[in-house]
Amino acid sequence: MRLPDPALVLLVGAPGSGKSTWAAGRFRDVEIVSSDALRAVVGSGTADLDASDDAFRLLDQIVEGRTRRGLTVVVDTLGLDPDRRATWAAAARRSSLPTVAVVLDTPASVCRSRNAGRDRPVPRRVLDAQLGRVREVPDELRREGWDVRVVAHDEPSPAVAPRLETPEDGTTGPQVVLQIGRFPWGSEPLEWLRDMARAADSAGFAGVALMDHLIQIPQVDRSWEPIPEPWVALGAVAALGTDLRLGTLCTPASFRAPGVIAKAAATLDVLCRGRAFCGLGAGWWEREHAAYGLQFGPTARRMDDLAVAAETVKALWAPGTRAYTGEHVTLPETTCYPRPVGALPLVIGGGGEQRTLRVAARWGDACNVRADLDTVQRKSEVLRRHCHEVGRPPEEVAVTVLDVAVVGTDRDDTWTRVERHRGRTRAATYAARHHAGEAAAHRERHGRLVDAGVSTVFLALPDLDGPEDVERVAALARR
Ligand code: CTP
Ligand code: MG
Repeated sequence: MRLPDPALVLLVGAPGSGKSTWAAGRFRDVEIVSSDALRAVVGSGTADLDASDDAFRLLDQIVEGRTRRGLTVVVDTLGLDPDRRATWAAAARRSSLPTVAVVLDTPASVCRSRNAGRDRPVPRRVLDAQLGRVREVPDELRREGWDVRVVAHDEPSPAVAPRLETPEDGTTGPQVVLQIGRFPWGSEPLEWLRDMARAADSAGFAGVALMDHLIQIPQVDRSWEPIPEPWVALGAVAALGTDLRLGTLCTPASFRAPGVIAKAAATLDVLCRGRAFCGLGAGWWEREHAAYGLQFGPTARRMDDLAVAAETVKALWAPGTRAYTGEHVTLPETTCYPRPVGALPLVIGGGGEQRTLRVAARWGDACNVRADLDTVQRKSEVLRRHCHEVGRPPEEVAVTVLDVAVVGTDRDDTWTRVERHRGRTRAATYAARHHAGEAAAHRERHGRLVDAGVSTVFLALPDLDGPEDVERVAALARR
């Protein structure tokens, strides 16, 4: 069963139906709020009914606090009281969290025999009444607007059951390229780079892309952390002779003269036997330009420069040495040796709808946009329009995404990573932005991106430290 996440999850079922067991197999302890557990906190034990009022006051407060922060909360009570349900649902809806009711459809006989075996069984008559109520509740829940999911008694036991959001894995994945944006290489840069590339290769990644910045960007790390010149660094990776595709994501057109970008990429292409690609963007960070003595013009100017750079590299990579006269560019000759081995893909980075995607449609082999489905759908549509306008078949321009993802080994590990890396960003916001989850959920998400037309995912890990992190996400890299 796949549930939305984050969500308010309400458990519904008779005593002994298996609610707590079901939740424990799928959620972190802190995500589950149980009236029994809170009775034991404020009272003498889980069965201290005199402590119920206090326990539920606390429970309401926890539900309110977690939903207000956009965090998943699983309410483990009998779930039979409509007034309490209304309170929790209202809290969830205030934060636009989905409200899901999970009904444990366990046969009465099973509940009775489990109850009989307990230290403090629920009295027979009480249990019978509760079993009767449980039968009425699904219809009530639907009327109240809950998304009702019924758990059949014979569903596999939680220990072996798939965890939250685990897909049935029959999907075809995208090509996945590891994008490296942090370089915590200590005193062994070359070793680190090569170990990373070897790990990416053996994990099955299609390639490695290096970020191209002159100062480490604040979104990734502190400004004094190392950030290498990527074309030089990729040369070292090429020397390994792997089958990895190698390139940048993205090279700002503002850093180097367009012809020098063409030269660097063509050189890399021959060194890695035709596996290079070239990410090209407009550049956006004024500070690094100032520090390195580079011009940083207004947006319109940088967009013009992006178009010029795209057109120039394409002209220089084309066969022959003829003079070139094009849209923005005139070159007396196009003598660029070594030539790229094959078609060297030009990936235009950025989702700017007026200019950037037009440059992609005109000269790119791909665009690169953010990895959420809405963005992909919208930008693909705009790209298609530009393709029609410039007279290029849309299928010639691939849609690729930069997916900055938090990938945990389980739900606990995922949330530990979110908490460690979120900085001052709200946990729920950070988790949503990075699709925080286990590899299986990311694979499923990638499958949806493929369905939306994405060919390649550039996967970036905000917590990338070394080769062990590449191995951790190997399940996402399929060839
Ligand atoms: N159990 C089981 N197999 C399952 C689910 C539960 O054997 N698939 C057992 C549990 O180990 C436990 C008992 O059934 O001993 C009751 O399960 P529990 O999850 O505690 O049920 P709840 O619905 O949470 O019961 P209560 O309302 O009393 O908290
Ligand atoms: Mg329970």
